[in-house]
Amino acid sequence: MDKPESKAAATAKSPAGLEGVVAAESSIGDVDGINGVLIYQGYNIHDLAEHSTFEEVIYLLWHGRLPKRAELEDFRRTLSENQTLPAEVSEMIGRFPRDAEPMDSLRTAVSALGFHDSQSRDLSREGALRAAIKLTAQFPVIIATIERLRNGQEPVAPKDGLSLAANFLYMLKGEEPSEREARIMDVCLILHADHELNASTFTARVVAGTLADMYGAVTAAIAALSGPLHGGANTNVMKMLLEIEKPERAEEWLREALAQKKKVMGFGHRVYRTEDPRSTWLRKFSKEMGEARGQTQWNAILETLREVMFREKKLYPNVDYYSGSAYYLMGIPLDLFTPIFAVSRISGWTGHILEQYANNRLIRPRAEYTGPRDLSYVPIDER
Ligand code: ACO
Repeated sequence: MDKPESKAAATAKSPAGLEGVVAAESSIGDVDGINGVLIYQGYNIHDLAEHSTFEEVIYLLWHGRLPKRAELEDFRRTLSENQTLPAEVSEMIGRFPRDAEPMDSLRTAVSALGFHDSQSRDLSREGALRAAIKLTAQFPVIIATIERLRNGQEPVAPKDGLSLAANFLYMLKGEEPSEREARIMDVCLILHADHELNASTFTARVVAGTLADMYGAVTAAIAALSGPLHGGANTNVMKMLLEIEKPERAEEWLREALAQKKKVMGFGHRVYRTEDPRSTWLRKFSKEMGEARGQTQWNAILETLREVMFREKKLYPNVDYYSGSAYYLMGIPLDLFTPIFAVSRISGWTGHILEQYANNRLIRPRAEYTGPRDLSYVPIDER
């Protein structure tokens, strides 16, 4: 039975958008928005970006510690063995509309993947880990398959011995990336892997909290990530750069956008009140790729927008601000930027789902009712 006094206490403390509300205990990651510090299972994101690989980070998020060499090799092998998509899912992707948003295609394909996992309802740690491995291994394959099939090309099978990052680029383009591009993609995947109770991770935990299976929880998380206020912002940042086109037009463009009270994509964050530590790395990559490709204008526009935005609104760039230009300069289509985010964040989502299953309680908050009460029912012909 509801306890009115507990509801009153809860609603009194519920700010818009649940800002500042602590809704779960987690050891996976933590964001210190004041000091701009992000950690995964105790390790600073800068150390992980400098020294680790995406595979190591996935292991860390799921197991709470870094793998030993033999464990990492075994883990890589297991991921590699789980990359093959069920043929029915590839065929289904081939029947999606050519102009479908890739995030919608990913969401639909992941939902269908559940049909082909006869053990999907096994929510034990072992069973859920098995599903987490399949999903994490198959996300890059699904996205590369979507990209190839919508362009009338045959999918490229993953290659043994390549990292998830290198394999993703290989399957997308049909040729192996340079070592540097593979490493940049690897670090991008590390940087996006987890971010505490962001909107999509919270969604995943809410669905998992009902004891729905991992495919359902991840499908819902993909939908949450696709929105322009969350992961969808990276594509929109690149669209903005293409629209501005020249660095000398950046300041005027931004002033006009602010005068029209537009939300400028790639700026602002619910938690950070300083520079997002992930953007420190992404800025570096965007600059490096621009110089390597002889396209320094995108970075110049980004820097002008950053300065003016800080002067005018005291807002900092978020993770989505620089990633788009780095991916664009790698020759990746704009609408795949958010799916790349998903290729990384699947590791954090599944880590949180594992944590939720291990110590579950249904997530069921209250709403503050603002409608009328005690209305008399009026028969339909008398309204
Ligand atoms: N452009 C212009 N003004 C902004 C922006 C922005 N990008 N972000 C915040 N503001 C302003 C708001 O208008 C508001 O001003 P006001 O107090 O004068 O009304 C103030 O800053 C506070 O903003 P809120 O909207 O209350 O911030 P909230 O925490 O609700 O939203 C969000 C955070 C959604 C990220 C917001 O900053 C935004 O829409 N940014 C653009 C989209 C984006 O880049 N999303 C990616 C976020 S990172 C991620 O999810 C992976």
